[in-house]
Amino acid sequence: MKIILIGAPGAGKGTLAHKMIERFKDVRQISLGDIFRREVKKDSDLGRKLKKYMDAGVLVPDETAALVIEEHIPCNNFILDGYPRTVAQAGALDEIMEKKGIGLDKALYLDVSESTVEKRLSGRRVCRNCHKNYHIKNMPPKREGICDICGGELIQREDDKPEVIRRRWEVFQKENSLLVDYYRARKKLSVINADKEADEVMKEIVSVIKDGTA
Ligand code: AP5
Repeated sequence: MKIILIGAPGAGKGTLAHKMIERFKDVRQISLGDIFRREVKKDSDLGRKLKKYMDAGVLVPDETAALVIEEHIPCNNFILDGYPRTVAQAGALDEIMEKKGIGLDKALYLDVSESTVEKRLSGRRVCRNCHKNYHIKNMPPKREGICDICGGELIQREDDKPEVIRRRWEVFQKENSLLVDYYRARKKLSVINADKEADEVMKEIVSVIKDGTA
């Protein structure tokens, strides 16, 4: 299973990727956003460069993203969340996978409306320690402000501030239809209605995968 999840900020890529690795055994999740945030937390040279782009809600340069993906992509089963976001990145991913002798099974496009995105991102909270995602209304923790898993403090991501959410949505809109067309033309695309509750979205994903189309 070699699958990519594409979709707007807040479409549920991270949430669904987690559910998928619980549901399907021996599959790894690779989230480019999470890898970047770990670099930022380490305060490495790379992390300091990444932070400027991420805090502004714009894409990190394609070459940087491709280098990180090449380093992290495994040859066995994976769910890649957050890459590619542009047609140039899709071409780079094809090249990286070809070099590794592997092929993509499916691009799952999580299709959401702007109003859903606004509600999800403004209500998202993330554990400072283990990075588990919550939502103050849709997926609240058992105790307000505290992570169910590790007891860490729940915080709001810098890029979940209203003005940055708007910018991320605009960046997404600019590239997305070309990216979707790229995978549609290669007969790899499945469009999933991601405005629904996470368990409903997951059911649709499972049925697409079980169809043998992924
Ligand atoms: P990244 O971290 O990947 O951010 P993003 O794509 O903007 O996606 P998010 O993490 O915000 O949303 P998500 O779709 O994973 O939704 P989630 O599951 O958390 O990237 C951050 C930055 O890194 C970028 O802005 C860019 O600078 C850089 N970057 C990353 N990849 C790059 C690339 N390829 N090239 C260049 N730069 C790159 O869900 C959101 C909330 O909604 C949560 O609270 C969740 O609990 C809730 N929720 C989710 N699904 C549902 C549902 N179905 N029903 C109800 N609630 C739900």
